[in-house]
Formats: sequence, C-alpha cells, structure tokens
Amino acid sequence: GTAGATGPAVVLVGPPGSGKSTVGALLAERLGTTVRDTDTDIQRAAGKPIPEIFVEDGEPRFRELEAAAVRAALTEHDGVVSLGGGAILSPATRELLAGLPVVFLDVALAEAVRRVGLDTPRPLLAVNPRQRWRVLMEERRPLYTEVARAVVQTAERTPDEVAQAVLDAL
Ligand code: S3P
Repeated sequence: GTAGATGPAVVLVGPPGSGKSTVGALLAERLGTTVRDTDTDIQRAAGKPIPEIFVEDGEPRFRELEAAAVRAALTEHDGVVSLGGGAILSPATRELLAGLPVVFLDVALAEAVRRVGLDTPRPLLAVNPRQRWRVLMEERRPLYTEVARAVVQTAERTPDEVAQAVLDAL
C-alpha cells in the first residue's frame, strides 16, 4: 500500500552497487508490497535524468531535490523505500531515519564494480571511478552505520539470500 501512517516496512541504504534495487524488488515481492526509489522520484520531479541534474543544476541542487524526495517517500510509502547512495549526507534525512527499520547493505568495491560496472550513469563516479567510490565509502560508512538498525553483508550472497538476511535482521 502507499498511504503510510505506519511508515516504511524497510528502508535500504548503501553505496552504488550494494544491491539496493535488486534486493528492494525481492523484499517488496516477499512482503507483498512495492518499492519506492528516491532516484526515480527525483528524475520524475525534475523531468530529466540524474546526470543532467548534476550537470545543469549542480550537486547541491540535486541534494535538495533528494532530501525532499526522501521526506515524501518516508512519509507516504509503507512498503520498501530505497534511498540513493548519497541521501544519508543530509543531516535532516538522517534525523528522519531515526527509529525507522533502516538496513545498510554493505559491499566491497570489487563486488560493487562487478554488480554495476563503473560505466553506469553515476555522475560522482564518472572520473577515477574506483578511487572515487573508495573515497565516498570512507566518508559515508560512518553515516550508513549511524542510521542503520542493521548492517547486512552482501558479499558471497545471492540477492535472495541478502533479502532473507534483511528480513531476519529486522
Ligand atoms: C549517488 C548515488 C546514486 C544517485 C546519484 C548520486 C551518490 O544512487 O542518487 O547518482 O551520491 O552515491 P544509487 O546509490 O542508487 O546509485
């Protein structure tokens, strides 16, 4: 359902390549609900793809749109909510996540690269993707950990196994 007086069933956070989209879809199926993905909502609101928002409006504007999309998703959706990798950079977002069933999907660089490649349209990974990913993760790991009720390791696990681990963790 969508009209969420109860709040989301699960909120997935983690870096690009952690499996949020794949695992989110599996979780939604198992829970008999749907996924709301903030990247999708931002693109719809802006009327253009994320790389164009970064180029034409800049990252600060993207982060504003993202904070608004996260707020809307968390208040309106009672299914699975999947947040863009950088959403947790916003202090307001981290406050909103307090007390919610947030799961951090942890992944190592080599695995993230294997999953999504590094030629995907992620503006922050456009140049020196491996180095950039590492730096992003160094900055963000403490924030993912801070907001998470549970950390689920995704290494050596199939998406189904990760989805099960998420359910077990909550
Ligand atoms: C970003 C991750 C992307 C998207 C944007 C910025 C980030 O989402 O929101 O490119 O800062 O890590 P995914 O985590 O779904 O790739």
